[in-house]
Amino acid sequence: MAPKQTKEEFVVDFVGGAVGHRLRSGEGRGQALPKAAGFTKGRTPRVVDATAGLGRDAFLLASLGADVTLIERSPEMHAHLADGIARAKAEGGIYEEIASRMTLLLGDSRDLIKVLSPEVVVVDPMHPPRHNSALVKKEMRVLRAVVGADPDQFELMMTALECASKRVVLKWPLRAAPMEGLPKPSHQICGKNTRYDVFMMFRNLPAED
Ligand SMILES: C[S@@+](CC[C@H](N)C(=O)[O-])C[C@H]1O[C@@H](n2cnc3c(N)ncnc32)[C@H](O)[C@@H]1O
Repeated sequence: MAPKQTKEEFVVDFVGGAVGHRLRSGEGRGQALPKAAGFTKGRTPRVVDATAGLGRDAFLLASLGADVTLIERSPEMHAHLADGIARAKAEGGIYEEIASRMTLLLGDSRDLIKVLSPEVVVVDPMHPPRHNSALVKKEMRVLRAVVGADPDQFELMMTALECASKRVVLKWPLRAAPMEGLPKPSHQICGKNTRYDVFMMFRNLPAED
């Protein structure tokens, strides 16, 4: 029998916990997500995180100097994120600096990314549940209890592919089958449990002579 998912309260915390730890550990642009999003030594793209969730990916990219627009459609998650960003700003120092690069919007990314002219769009929808639910982190189970599944994720990806000028990054479980119907990614970057399918917008590269 599947474990009962209870709706528990949780906070978005960019200062303590795993996010703060990752920041203090000083891991940089070599991590899989920034690499997939096109961060290099001299290049920092503008990013739209179309599935903000707990804000962890957005905070990581903002900590590397990027201006990140976070879009979240669940009013409850949006309120948690607004609270987390406000507390990071109040903390001062590096946390305030990073949080000031994060712009949070409430709404559906399928509508909002059309008016944002994004360079890079990151999409991390609720993933298909794994057979071994013990592998799914508690926070993700709680998030799922709050926001449910994302049945329109294919439509979101197609909108992102139409609107991004540089690339779209889809965060996906390492061994899961590709999202049905999507074009083949340009390349993939694999982490321990996650892979990043990268779709380059070749249509926007300057034409060769
Ligand atoms: C798996 S979580 C993302 C976790 C996030 N990457 C992080 O680092 O914490 C997916 C989130 O995206 C939101 N979401 C999914 N589709 C969306 C859409 N079309 N527009 C806005 N938010 C969306 C869900 O409500 C959920 O909070």
